[in-house]
Amino acid sequence: EKEIYQKGLNYARPPFSFNALDWEGLASERMSAESRGYSIGSAGTGETLRKNREAFSKWSITPSRLIGTKSFPDLSTRVLDKKLPFPIAIAPVGVQKIFNPEGELASARAAAAQDVPYIMSTASSTSIEDVAKANGDGERWFQLYWPSREQDDITISILNRAKTSGFSALIVTLDTYILGWRPSDMNNGYNPFLRSDQIGVEIGFSDPVWTAQFKEKHGGSPQDNLGAAAAEWTRTIFPGFSHGWEDIKFLQEHWQGPIILKGIQTVADAKKCVEVGVQGLVVSNHGGRQVDGGNSSLGILPRIVDAVGDKIEVLFDSGIRCGADIAKAMALGAKMCLIGRPFVYGMVLGGEEGVSHVLKALLGDLELTLHLAGITSTSPDVLNRDVLVRESDFF
Ligand code: FNR
Repeated sequence: EKEIYQKGLNYARPPFSFNALDWEGLASERMSAESRGYSIGSAGTGETLRKNREAFSKWSITPSRLIGTKSFPDLSTRVLDKKLPFPIAIAPVGVQKIFNPEGELASARAAAAQDVPYIMSTASSTSIEDVAKANGDGERWFQLYWPSREQDDITISILNRAKTSGFSALIVTLDTYILGWRPSDMNNGYNPFLRSDQIGVEIGFSDPVWTAQFKEKHGGSPQDNLGAAAAEWTRTIFPGFSHGWEDIKFLQEHWQGPIILKGIQTVADAKKCVEVGVQGLVVSNHGGRQVDGGNSSLGILPRIVDAVGDKIEVLFDSGIRCGADIAKAMALGAKMCLIGRPFVYGMVLGGEEGVSHVLKALLGDLELTLHLAGITSTSPDVLNRDVLVRESDFF
């Protein structure tokens, strides 16, 4: 059995706080203004970001007593026909080298060490092949920022690289065909994908098809034309316009494996996911970084679960900060929660060890929260809406 922080008072001093709400402030002090704005920031006035957090307080866990347990809760979950020891995954986050010089290598190693699936972003600052090596025999999924259909050859090349490198599922992000209105980045004059180094564009620069096309068009290598190449790769992964539901077929033809659509926020779209035959969806609003004035991700989760939860895997992110948040999202029907900003802060505060600390702290907190609430596992048989009340019902 994997060691996570648990079972009472026997702690060694942690590398940094056990209090998940401290992480953002601690990391903020250690980051450049640009990295701080990019990670902590959000779209517009931050209304969606705030609502993501507020939504968790509207639900409360109701503990049961004298249930007669002899073991700690079983945290395992089943996703895509695989039994996973823990119900969390590392969310796809781009350009991680702006947070720590080791970047994705640190988080991919931590994920493998803690037995937590790693979702690699198309906007990574480390190549697909190097992340796979760092992740070893860990469970890993690839997140696609989907080039326009005029660039299908590049999409196919990326998918083939991911497949060859042992990424077993494809997560397709639908909410970011262009970056949102993000005042903190705009005020800093900062776009992490248009830096004067190669950090924001590594996947393109390491792609044989894309670099060959670039050389043909510009006569030199991307490295010799860094500015033009960065701008071109950025347009490739953020093409500006949305695909249509009919385009999903193309991905199904070129990715032999499960496909999960990330960024679903309506019941109608969740039903379309079932219709087009993908294996799962992530209820997510990208952590409030895309549409401001949007609904909380947790708020819409139960309706989506009610509509499609028995036909397709429903995963969740946006706003998860502690063990109780994971418990609530799962009680509302999510099979797994993706951890976004908290692991980024862990990476700022301590690289691989920092990410491991964040994952272990979240899981230790989840374990004791369930244990003390008399909930014996994350199975929907016992972790379901019967353990929640709406806080407003009391008043
Ligand atoms: C993201 N997210 C993201 N999503 C994605 O599909 N591809 C990506 O490259 C990125 N990059 C990224 C960078 C940073 C700095 C953040 C904070 C987020 C979104 C991410 O996967 C997830 O949906 C959110 O982070 C969830 O919200 P919280 O929990 O961070 O508030």
